[in-house]
Amino acid sequence: MLNFHVLTLFPDMIDNILKTSIIGRAIANGHILTEVVNIRDFTNSKHKKVDDYPYGGGAGMLLQAQPIYDAYLSIMNNIKDKAPRVVYVTPQGKLFNQQMAKELAEEENIVLLCGHYEGIDERVLLEIVTDNISIGDYVLTGGELPAMVVVDAVSRMVPGVLSNASSGENESLSNFLLEYPQYSRPEVWQDRRVPEILLSGDHAKIDKWRCEQAVMRTKERRPDLYEKYLNEG
Ligand code: ADE
Repeated sequence: MLNFHVLTLFPDMIDNILKTSIIGRAIANGHILTEVVNIRDFTNSKHKKVDDYPYGGGAGMLLQAQPIYDAYLSIMNNIKDKAPRVVYVTPQGKLFNQQMAKELAEEENIVLLCGHYEGIDERVLLEIVTDNISIGDYVLTGGELPAMVVVDAVSRMVPGVLSNASSGENESLSNFLLEYPQYSRPEVWQDRRVPEILLSGDHAKIDKWRCEQAVMRTKERRPDLYEKYLNEG
């Protein structure tokens, strides 16, 4: 059973995403567990303050070390795992990919730290973080969306979360290929016909066609991925 622990200043944002659709069902069915911890609940300050000005000056406020560390300790006090992966989602992290999602799905506990404002006091990051992960080369206003991207991608690799028919293992990207195009009824829509081969009933031919389409599509749309497919796929 995989247990996510999310450290955030905006628990509502996380709760809303987690209760929806496939992830909501995975939680209801006991395939994954999620705990959302509000960093603000752990502040020692009278006015529930969690941020302060950066030493040396500069724009914006920083999240202070103490509330984050105490929130982290509250999680550690409740789990047996003494060295869980602690993921800080940050544009400075390693670029997230399918391979990393697959690997994280093997863990028992994953702590996700969501930053906000201009950043976090470096000392608490050095103290607790094991993995820095970025979801792409762009900057978001906070770590909540990236943390949910990681929870979603990792959860669907946990056995039982997806139906067997659509298990996350034998699908696009795990072999460095994009998906082939798909069609449903009707046979003709806006003068566009479903490719004849898909109506042939010849499954060997259909598999071959789909594979060719996946390769063509990858070469055209994601030349970087296509190189990996040629070398490692
Ligand atoms: N926080 C802000 N932007 C981010 C990104 N691109 N990836 C991960 N965390 C972030």
